[in-house]
Amino acid sequence: MVPDPMTYNHNNSPVFSPFALDGMTLRNRTIRSGCFEGMSQEGTVTERLIDHHRRLAAGGIGMTTVSYCSVSEDGRAFGHELWMRTEILPGLRRLTDAVHAEGAAVSIQLGHCGFFASPSVIDRRPFGASPKFCLFRLSYCDEMSEEDIEKKTDDFVRAARLARQAGFDAVEIHAGHGYLLSQFLSPWTNRRGDRYGGSLENRVRFPAEVVRRVRAEMGGGYPILVKMNQCDGMRGGLELDESIEVARSFEAAGAGALVPSCGFTAKTPFHMLRGGVPVREMVRAQSSFFYRLGLSLFGRTMVQRYPFEPLFLLEGARRIRDAVSIPVGYIGGVLSRTDMETLVDEGFAFVQLGRATIRDPDFVRRLEHGELDRSDCDQCNRCIATMSVEGVRCVTADLATTDRALSQRGTRLIRRRLVGEYHSSVANPKEDHE
Ligand SMILES: Cc1cc2nc3c(=O)[nH]c(=O)nc-3n(C[C@H](O)[C@H](O)[C@H](O)COP(=O)(O)O)c2cc1C
Ligand code: SF4
Repeated sequence: MVPDPMTYNHNNSPVFSPFALDGMTLRNRTIRSGCFEGMSQEGTVTERLIDHHRRLAAGGIGMTTVSYCSVSEDGRAFGHELWMRTEILPGLRRLTDAVHAEGAAVSIQLGHCGFFASPSVIDRRPFGASPKFCLFRLSYCDEMSEEDIEKKTDDFVRAARLARQAGFDAVEIHAGHGYLLSQFLSPWTNRRGDRYGGSLENRVRFPAEVVRRVRAEMGGGYPILVKMNQCDGMRGGLELDESIEVARSFEAAGAGALVPSCGFTAKTPFHMLRGGVPVREMVRAQSSFFYRLGLSLFGRTMVQRYPFEPLFLLEGARRIRDAVSIPVGYIGGVLSRTDMETLVDEGFAFVQLGRATIRDPDFVRRLEHGELDRSDCDQCNRCIATMSVEGVRCVTADLATTDRALSQRGTRLIRRRLVGEYHSSVANPKEDHE
């Protein structure tokens, strides 16, 4: 259980005050968004993953989110991605206990990659809404049958049940970013002619049924967040007018809160992030020679860039918030205390923070205590390019630390050299071991 939030120093700001979300009380209105950690060797819970979330909790976040956990083995994009099964429950329990001990709540993001699951990892052709070639994987997917849809719905329900058993305070169903449920919502990937394709009413059927069944399993009073898209970011994809209707369907199906994001991982991966496209790091992270070659030759033209601006999803998020009566959180380019206070003042129930908390896991605590008023993340996005090989971290901060250490070491060397030369000049030669 989350320790008593009333004992936490909340400084009287609405952002840093306790609040109730779908039956749970959080110590403040900040939630670390799902950011793939790259710390689950062979799909298991590692000490590094536990420490990552314990560290975020110690840094003051209201709730942290264990990022993308596949609801079944065949929904994985990487070999070292969590997928929900009873064997990992002890590890997950240690993680939830560690976060609770620091006074925060913890959620887990449940999803399925659908057509961009990795064939070499899942050992079969991926599933999708409709047959489609995935440029990201260079593979085709199989169209899901009604039986497959029923089975995946069961997987979401089972995964949510296990998450609660492991001590998670909430689950976040991933219905955005071009993952499987988003592939059904998007006309770009869903070309089905049956009751799951065509009209929006048909395209939303499977995602809404997942939410409805998870709610039926978990009952009222257990927080179910749904991360969804405002738009996919490409021609022929889901657009805001339809996503407002999708939001209403999720509300009707029993969602406890919505998180409207954007972008399609296999097509417009930087739409949800905005900012830099770190081609060099992306090339280095590829294990296949052909991917490395392709990316280094065409990366700059293949991968679309989108300029960053603070609160880059605000307009669409407002329209979705005004169309439903359940709490809506804001995500996308939150950088400062002023941003957060403005968002909460105008009616967003909470704010989700990604890169600001990768840059500095103490971000929330330091804002709350007035030690800083904004993040110095520069949206270079090198953290996303390196997360799957090195584990997620702020690459820029690490480089700055290394630079500082090197320049200090350089200064020490120069000083020693000069002093050494002085000593040798006075006939007491001294060896420099550095
Ligand atoms: C390194 C990294 C990993 C991410 N992994 C995920 C993920 O696993 N699931 C997800 O829904 N979003 C993921 N995102 C997107 C973030 O949750 C968020 O939507 C995006 O970064 C915008 O928020 P921000 O401006 O606060 O960073 C990731 C972002 C980053 C930077
Ligand atoms: S590497 Fe650091 S500075 Fe760059 S986007 Fe990620 S968190 Fe921000």
